[in-house]
Amino acid sequence: MTDLPTRPTIPANTGVPANTAERTPSQPSSEVFRTSNLSVSYGGVRAIADVSIDIRDREITAFIGPSGCGKSTVLRCFNRMNDLIPTATVDGSVWYHGVDLYDPQVDPVAVRRRIGMVFQKPNPFPKSIYDNVAYGPRVGGMKADLDEVVESSLIRAGLWDEVKDRLQESATGMSGGQQQRLCIARAIAVNPDVLLMDEPCSALDPIATGRIEELMKEIQNDYTIVIVTHNMQQAARVSDRTAFFTAELDEGTGQRRGRLVEYADTVTIFSDPEDDRTEAYVTGRFG
Ligand SMILES: Nc1ncnc2c1ncn2[C@@H]1O[C@H](COP(=O)(O)OP(=O)(O)OP(=O)(O)O)[C@@H](O)[C@H]1O
Ligand SMILES: [Mg+2]
Repeated sequence: MTDLPTRPTIPANTGVPANTAERTPSQPSSEVFRTSNLSVSYGGVRAIADVSIDIRDREITAFIGPSGCGKSTVLRCFNRMNDLIPTATVDGSVWYHGVDLYDPQVDPVAVRRRIGMVFQKPNPFPKSIYDNVAYGPRVGGMKADLDEVVESSLIRAGLWDEVKDRLQESATGMSGGQQQRLCIARAIAVNPDVLLMDEPCSALDPIATGRIEELMKEIQNDYTIVIVTHNMQQAARVSDRTAFFTAELDEGTGQRRGRLVEYADTVTIFSDPEDDRTEAYVTGRFG
């Protein structure tokens, strides 16, 4: 017996739903993603098993847990980045606004346009600040005025005032915190629906980290954000809901396998978690 959801009939031209600008903040939270029994293996070795989770629209969801428990692996399933790892296989389902993200009809490039990603290490292109932000709109053939898109993206990323007089300078000459905000500007320039952030502040000092956290709060009305973090305070400060993962020894194979232990609103996870393993982790007794 299986409790996988019934596969809907997917029309041949299945696309990825556009960002629906008419949604209003007062609209009740709905699901952006739902996974069912999601498992990922690398070279046949299970890294994470049976993750069933829903990610709500325009909330900030934090993934926490000890190193190697599969947080990045799960995050990468949300925009099919694991497709780019030849040894990775993904089982189970990932639904994005009700569309099966892994349906062969779905174009992974379109997925990554709708679902942007910001990485641990800022990775600006060795191009000008302007060209970094304009890159996505240019590649995607966006018809809008590029100058306007660049300016508004940099404003949203809280970077405009610092760079407006040096837009033609190389992005690699910026500080780490500026580079990370530039990467966020680059990600939002294509008007995505979701931002996936994998430890976006781990290379930044507390001031730059604070800027990124403020920025996340500012843009959360427009984007659904999933952030992986090792910083408990950060998860507690910025997120609405928190998922705690851990890695457990699989008796059968002798290998460590990631599991989703508990998923709830952030206040509950940090103040009154159900599972002892969650409590041990958030109170610093483990991991
Ligand atoms: N590209 C890869 N090839 C092979 N194994 C991988 C790959 N990426 C991750 N893994 C393995 O999958 C498991 C989960 O890794 P993952 O990077 O998702 O963990 P994580 O929770 O993000 O850890 P960290 O907090 O250190 O970033 C680990 O055992 C890791 O070694
Ligand atoms: Mg990781």
